[in-house]
Amino acid sequence: MSFDVSGNAYDRFMGRYSRELAPAFADLARVEAGQRVLDVGCGSGVLTEELAGRLGADHVAGADPSPLLEACADRVPGADLKRAGAEQLPWPDDSFDAALAQLVVHFMDDVEGGIAEMARVTRPGGVVAACTWDFSGGMKLLGTFWASAKALDPGAESESSAFDGARLEALWRGAGLGDVHVDALVVSSRYEDFDELWDTFLLGVGPAGQHLAAQPPERQSAIRAEYFSRLSEPAGPFDLDARAWAVRGRVPD
Ligand SMILES: C[S@@+](CC[C@H](N)C(=O)[O-])C[C@H]1O[C@@H](n2cnc3c(N)ncnc32)[C@H](O)[C@@H]1O
Repeated sequence: MSFDVSGNAYDRFMGRYSRELAPAFADLARVEAGQRVLDVGCGSGVLTEELAGRLGADHVAGADPSPLLEACADRVPGADLKRAGAEQLPWPDDSFDAALAQLVVHFMDDVEGGIAEMARVTRPGGVVAACTWDFSGGMKLLGTFWASAKALDPGAESESSAFDGARLEALWRGAGLGDVHVDALVVSSRYEDFDELWDTFLLGVGPAGQHLAAQPPERQSAIRAEYFSRLSEPAGPFDLDARAWAVRGRVPD
């Protein structure tokens, strides 16, 4: 499983971006004090922590099928956390004012089923929201990795590019959600040097980290050189932008 890693490894690789994304995504989902909110695919708890800051941990729940849930429990004591996938959420109907999934929809085994479950556990009038990276060129960290891997092996199987704003909107409408709104959220992360970035790929996190770990050492070095070149060989600190597509919809009354 590509998320069978420590919370620290996840945070160094991807959590640094999730942390920037979480407040913008919570705003888009209109999360505000007094609500009870579910974080689907909560991972190490970056969004869960943002929600707890707004609502109090006792008003926040989280679900994730991976061992990252332990890091979430450490990060947000008092939240109602369950080891589960989106497709079978272990809460009764209408339990939450909102259900959010940050960077998760494209990992679901059954996307329509997962969204239907998010709607089921959300009360009528409540919000179901998700965001996914823009894999068509808006997420530099991963986009540059897969472009480099494919330059050396055109058969390298990259992450889904199928989840653009139009697809998310169609999924939300197909799930019977109303007032559907789609937006782009842009964040960035700073690296002190190229080694800092590359070291995070060696942690084996997610499909990119797993792909790299499966390559022989000489291929790993070649991907690194290709990546460095595609970033124009940075000599010092640099920032990488990451754009996500986000969608919000309302459960019908
Ligand atoms: C890129 S991480 C995002 C974690 C967190 N939401 C964040 O923003 O940092 C993707 C997460 O989706 C989880 N995941 C994978 N399949 C899932 C599924 N079917 N249902 C819910 N979560 C799933 C993984 O375990 C992982 O924690």
